[in-house]
Amino acid sequence: MQAFASLNESKANFDDIYDRADPRDYFSVLGSLDYMIPDVAAPLVRQILAARKRRYDLAPTVLDVGCSYGINAAVHRFPLSFRRLRRRYANADMAALGSDELARLDRSYYASWPETGLARFIGLDVSAPAVRYAVAVGLLDEGIVANLESTPPAPRDAERLRRADVILSTGCVGYVTERTFRSVLGAMERPPWIISFVLRMFPYDAISDELARHGLVTERLAGATFVQRRFRDVEEFTSCLATLEKLGIDTSGLESDGRFQAQLFLSRPKEDVLAAPLRQIVTVVSGRNRTVGTRYVRVGRGDRAKVLRAPS
Ligand SMILES: C[S@@+](CC[C@H](N)C(=O)[O-])C[C@H]1O[C@@H](n2cnc3c(N)ncnc32)[C@H](O)[C@@H]1O
Repeated sequence: MQAFASLNESKANFDDIYDRADPRDYFSVLGSLDYMIPDVAAPLVRQILAARKRRYDLAPTVLDVGCSYGINAAVHRFPLSFRRLRRRYANADMAALGSDELARLDRSYYASWPETGLARFIGLDVSAPAVRYAVAVGLLDEGIVANLESTPPAPRDAERLRRADVILSTGCVGYVTERTFRSVLGAMERPPWIISFVLRMFPYDAISDELARHGLVTERLAGATFVQRRFRDVEEFTSCLATLEKLGIDTSGLESDGRFQAQLFLSRPKEDVLAAPLRQIVTVVSGRNRTVGTRYVRVGRGDRAKVLRAPS
């Protein structure tokens, strides 16, 4: 879509870190800009996946669009966060390793965590090295390397897309448009739930219109925005503010304070929306990411619940 191409000009270009053999530069560069959307999205995604499980009684297969190195899979399958992984990869000893050696260690690292059991993950990304890594370390069950903006899915990829139940994206709409969603939905067996965290500078209308053609109703979570990251420099800041103002979006207290803001859209079959509208299935908790000391947490439910001390 031409409109997204020109909007993207107001955002810094990170293509070079999306395409490395391992995620160290991704975590270092985006981490230094306080990239946090996988973490701030996580409680909402979990509540939505739990609502879907209540409705369908099935742990879903999630297709992560723009999955990169499998970060959303790490955050949702294990008790991990972008922040924690950033610290792992920033460790000086990690810098000395080759990518294959790092992948071997990461495979054991992820396997050593208990699974949340929330979902199984498959991923789509245009970056072959990132997808290869995410599959090699066991975060994604299957990976699809494709640019569905320009090319329809290959038969083998269409077969992988067919079985997905939920589509998730963080930090990717803008790179992908309604074209990618059209291709993905065209390949799917049943109508999915689609969870999209989208920067406010990218209008979602063309995507929600496309989803409506596939029978899905889109709700936006009103009254909440989600920080994606800080602006990289003054050029990115002023150019993004100008773009938002041109779109008639008031940035005061939000982007004007120096951080990109995303919104949450959820698209579902109409009967699912009627059964439980978005505002009923999610609660936004402010300040959750600010505590630094030990917290007490309860994990599990009923007789199997345990009280534990969680480090920050
Ligand atoms: C900012 S990163 C977000 C990665 C991850 N979802 C996260 O939040 O950490 C954007 C990702 O979109 C991917 N991407 C760019 N164009 C794409 C396309 N046409 N189809 C699929 N993925 C694309 C990039 O390779 C990159 O991995």
